[in-house]
Amino acid sequence: MRIEKWVVREHAAGTPPVERVYEKVTEEVTVDLAPDEMLLRTRYVSVDPYLHGIALDTPLGDHMGADSIMEVLEAGPRASHRPGDLVQGFGGWRSHVVSTGRAVLWQTGTFPMVFPAYRRLDPSRYDDSLPLPTALSAMGGPGMTAWGTLSTFLRVEQGNTLVVSGASGAVGSLVGQLARLAGARVVGTTSSPAKREHLTGLGFDEVVLYRQGDGVDRVREALLRAAPGGVDRYFDNLGGAVTDAVFSMLNVDSRVAVCWQWATQVGGDAVGPRLLPHIMFPRTTVRGIFSLEWFTDDNWRALHADLGDLIRRKEVVCHHTVHHGFDAVPDAYRSLYHGRGSNLGKVLVAL
Ligand SMILES: NC(=O)c1ccc[n+]([C@@H]2O[C@H](COP(=O)([O-])OP(=O)(O)OC[C@H]3O[C@@H](n4cnc5c(N)ncnc54)[C@H](OP(=O)(O)O)[C@@H]3O)[C@@H](O)[C@H]2O)c1
Repeated sequence: MRIEKWVVREHAAGTPPVERVYEKVTEEVTVDLAPDEMLLRTRYVSVDPYLHGIALDTPLGDHMGADSIMEVLEAGPRASHRPGDLVQGFGGWRSHVVSTGRAVLWQTGTFPMVFPAYRRLDPSRYDDSLPLPTALSAMGGPGMTAWGTLSTFLRVEQGNTLVVSGASGAVGSLVGQLARLAGARVVGTTSSPAKREHLTGLGFDEVVLYRQGDGVDRVREALLRAAPGGVDRYFDNLGGAVTDAVFSMLNVDSRVAVCWQWATQVGGDAVGPRLLPHIMFPRTTVRGIFSLEWFTDDNWRALHADLGDLIRRKEVVCHHTVHHGFDAVPDAYRSLYHGRGSNLGKVLVAL
């Protein structure tokens, strides 16, 4: 059978030159499954900013890893899923996958992690109000990141002011809506007036415009107008100038969740002011987020019952920006970095 995949051809730091990094390879393969293997067809592929780091750690010539939704076409007698099952796992940018679906250790340059075993998606949990692609958004990694951080660490209290940077994306838009339901005044940062309008429509109280390269003073001025009483909770997707400004506005007993540091990890902005003095008097707690720690069966059930139910009742909105076709995968990924103007919520590709 014919299998298509995107492979990594170059390791490039900074904003990825997508056309140089990825090449499409088509292979004719004979599928001869071991007793515990499955042949799966990819239905949806996720593109995420963290793939930047995964690409750098992928041996040249190997396929690009990524979260995906797959359908089992064939399965050996001892395979973990049966033909017809839908599963979510780290299947990658591949049209078809042959795998046992077991957890895989990913030894990165910085920190080892384990891509979890493929998880069966119970069809009774998905319908028109909670469609299948949400298994890659609100009912998947981004949702678990937002919900897990709020329920286990940020623990918003009535009247808190919460700031979320990079607010228009899959994680940020959920964080803002959930925090607002928990009684917070929510301030987001985003890059365009259209996205500001979108976030205001989702219930954000204030939205500050920020574009990479804006100075800390300008950002701080805008944030002070949006959050005159200071910041109690900060969900950080960006780092850089927004974070430098927020740290100078922290209130007593504040909490900071570090989810991603775009400015440093992609933008190369590695030098900034000393931030630790800012957390001393307000007794701020800062915690790194590594959402895989919450990927348990109990948490998936709780996420469906809690956030899933809010989406069904339309109290939380989960947007998708969907690209179509296997050839569109690199362009969808590129859109996270260039021309982000039309991206709202989770960006994914339907095959
Ligand atoms: N630590 C963890 O366990 C964990 C788990 C999941 C995700 N993450 C990370 O968390 C971040 C958010 O995830 P996501 O799924 O919400 O990603 P996403 O949907 O791509 O959203 C990223 C957001 O960052 C903003 N952004 C992107 N490039 C920017 C730039 N150069 N300057 C300023 N803003 C920029 C975008 O907002 P605007 O276009 O509005 O500026 C967008 O809202 C990602 O970086 C992801 O890798 C971490």
